[in-house]
Amino acid sequence: MLLSCCGVALTSETHWLCPSSCRCNATVLELNCSLGQLTRVPDGLPQEAKLLNLTHNAIKTLARQQFHALTKLLDLDLSNNLLVIIEVEAFLGLQSLRTLRLSHNHLKIIPVGAFASLTNLQLLDISSNQILVFLDFTFRELAALRFMKAADNDVVYISHQAFTGLTSLQELHLDGCNLTAMPTEALTQLSVLRSLHFHRLGLTALPNYSFSHLVHLKELVISHCPWLESLSGNSLFGLNLTSLTIKHGNLSAFPYIPLHHLVYLIYLDLSFNPITYIHANLIGDLLRLQELHLVGGSLLRIEIGAFRGLAHFRLLNVSRNRLTTLEIGAFYSVDTLKTLGLDNNPLACDCRLVWVVQRRLYVDFGGNPPTCITSVQLQGWNFLDFPEAELPDLLTCRPPRILNRKAQVARLDQGHTVVFSCSAEGDPLPSVRWLNPQLRPLLPIGRVRALSNGSLEVRYAQPQDSGTYLCVASNAAGNDSLRVSLHVRAFPSSSKKPFRLKGWSAFPSAVPGVNGNSKLPFDVKTLLIAATIGFLSFFSSVSVCFIFMFLWSKSKGQIKHTATIAYVPRSAMSSSNGGTSNYMETGRFTMKLI
Ligand SMILES: *[C@@H]1O[C@H](CO)[C@@H](O)[C@H](O)[C@H]1NC(C)=O
Ligand SMILES: *[C@@H]1O[C@H](CO)[C@@H](O)[C@H](O)[C@H]1NC(C)=O
Ligand SMILES: *[C@@H]1O[C@H](CO)[C@@H](O)[C@H](O)[C@H]1NC(C)=O
Ligand SMILES: *[C@@H]1O[C@H](CO)[C@@H](O)[C@H](O)[C@H]1NC(C)=O
Ligand SMILES: *[C@@H]1O[C@H](CO)[C@@H](O)[C@H](O)[C@H]1NC(C)=O
Ligand SMILES: *[C@@H]1O[C@H](CO)[C@@H](O)[C@H](O)[C@H]1NC(C)=O
Ligand SMILES: *[C@@H]1O[C@H](CO)[C@@H](O)[C@H](O)[C@H]1NC(C)=O
Ligand SMILES: *[C@@H]1O[C@H](CO)[C@@H](O)[C@H](O)[C@H]1NC(C)=O
Repeated sequence: MLLSCCGVALTSETHWLCPSSCRCNATVLELNCSLGQLTRVPDGLPQEAKLLNLTHNAIKTLARQQFHALTKLLDLDLSNNLLVIIEVEAFLGLQSLRTLRLSHNHLKIIPVGAFASLTNLQLLDISSNQILVFLDFTFRELAALRFMKAADNDVVYISHQAFTGLTSLQELHLDGCNLTAMPTEALTQLSVLRSLHFHRLGLTALPNYSFSHLVHLKELVISHCPWLESLSGNSLFGLNLTSLTIKHGNLSAFPYIPLHHLVYLIYLDLSFNPITYIHANLIGDLLRLQELHLVGGSLLRIEIGAFRGLAHFRLLNVSRNRLTTLEIGAFYSVDTLKTLGLDNNPLACDCRLVWVVQRRLYVDFGGNPPTCITSVQLQGWNFLDFPEAELPDLLTCRPPRILNRKAQVARLDQGHTVVFSCSAEGDPLPSVRWLNPQLRPLLPIGRVRALSNGSLEVRYAQPQDSGTYLCVASNAAGNDSLRVSLHVRAFPSSSKKPFRLKGWSAFPSAVPGVNGNSKLPFDVKTLLIAATIGFLSFFSSVSVCFIFMFLWSKSKGQIKHTATIAYVPRSAMSSSNGGTSNYMETGRFTMKLI
């Protein structure tokens, strides 16, 4: 077979001399030396060759100027060898080379100058090696390089000038597993980069200004970062992306703030992150967003208004989450929605999902139509199974009904606490809100607050709390409301405004008043008078004290105004080891007493 192969080669017009371990194809000028058990690059390779395949051999070293005769070579594949060393100028002479593959070898370092003379190289694949560092100017000669694949290495450091000279690089695949910092400085050299892929990023948070100079970057992919918990607010600052993927990470919240300036974003993939909510009105800045993929997350709820403002939204894939429903109100307009992945969610089939069923023939479920899981009667029903005619009877909701609707009126004295209850039933279970007499919603915090069990609590009631409060129970089918009234009786009015302390709620609610009434026992004036009296009595007792001291000292006769103190200096006692002078005389000084 080899002979016939060589025979073919020899009969062709160019004088091919096919090395014994290779198969040569003279028509396409290809040398296939794959699986040839070669331990070194064979000698005497035909100079006309355009393609050289040396994969799956046992080559360990690429010596200097090994290929210098192959000036016409376009494609060199050395992947799946045992390469450990590439010498400087190993590829010298390969001035036509377009593609160089060195993946799946054992390279730990690439010396500066290894790629000398590869001025036409367009694709370099050094992935799946054990490269530890990228040194300054390693790729300096590769001015035409457009794609570089360097994923699956152990890179711990990328020098600041490592990517200098890569003036045409458009796509870069890196592995950040062992990087302790973003190679921000090195990336600034890549002025025309359009696509950046980080596989296995070892950081827990993406730092601010990580990519600030990559103005042409359109696509950023960060995948398999099990530690990545957050993106700093300005981490994507300076980017104008159309496609962003951050998947297989540990993000527990949707990164609203880091993303909000990406107004040209079309494609967003946050799959396989434990994100639980998409809140209302927070991604409306992504005006041009068309696709959101959030597969395999922990989504519990997509709030109504979540996709408000996204007029071009056409694909939502939230399969394999924990959603019980997806309401039409989440979308700006469902008419633009073409693809919906909603399978593998514990869906409760009720009126909230009617819109999906109604569109089941126009919307693409990607081959996996959603299935009802949590509804008792409809368990296991596939969305494509619903008969059109019975739809209104099958997917139903029960409007809320507030239970125990007896009139609740509370009359109480100022400072007391009252709880109004409001519980409602319905399907789906209604949510309960409270509105204050000014019809503003009450929050779960504060003195007057809505409790999580649906009750309203007014602590340390004040006269101004009086009024009619409204409990509103609502679900997708409607709402029901209940009024309660509160009358707070003030302390018997005095002519002055009552004095109120800032942190008054820390006081017991009812301070026994002077008249047996619950009234705070002081106002500003009383307090001032009390303070004045206090100060006056303090000053008078101090003065009396001084007078007594003066009289006593007078009675003791003439006061001595000086005192003389004699002492033995310390140095005198430890002269031998102290090293100071033998000053044996006792010291003496006189103080004047005042
Ligand atoms: C090169 O040779 C190997 C081993 O014989 C073969 O598997 C492979 O398909 C060949 N490649 C081409 C491009 O012919
Ligand atoms: C790089 O990270 C991988 C996975 O975490 C680890 O197995 C490997 O030892 C690291 N290599 C270096 C050089 O630190
Ligand atoms: C992901 O984050 C959670 C807390 O948010 C933490 O408990 C867990 O250990 C993290 N996972 C990894 C792989 O770091
Ligand atoms: C990142 O920038 C944001 C917004 O300026 C700032 O709030 C935050 O503290 C910064 N984070 C770090 C880690 O510097
Ligand atoms: C951002 O990118 C879009 C297209 O992807 C482009 O039309 C727009 O001009 C860019 N904006 C800036 C400020 O570069
Ligand atoms: C959603 O994503 C999953 C995983 O990538 C895929 O298998 C499925 O087909 C997608 N669904 C749709 C409707 O595109
Ligand atoms: C709600 O909680 C408050 C305080 O915890 C309690 O006083 C009230 O009785 C509860 N209401 C209901 C309906 O369980
Ligand atoms: C529910 O209440 C809102 C106002 O809070 C009102 O606009 C809406 O029409 C009500 N819905 C039903 C079904 O009564």
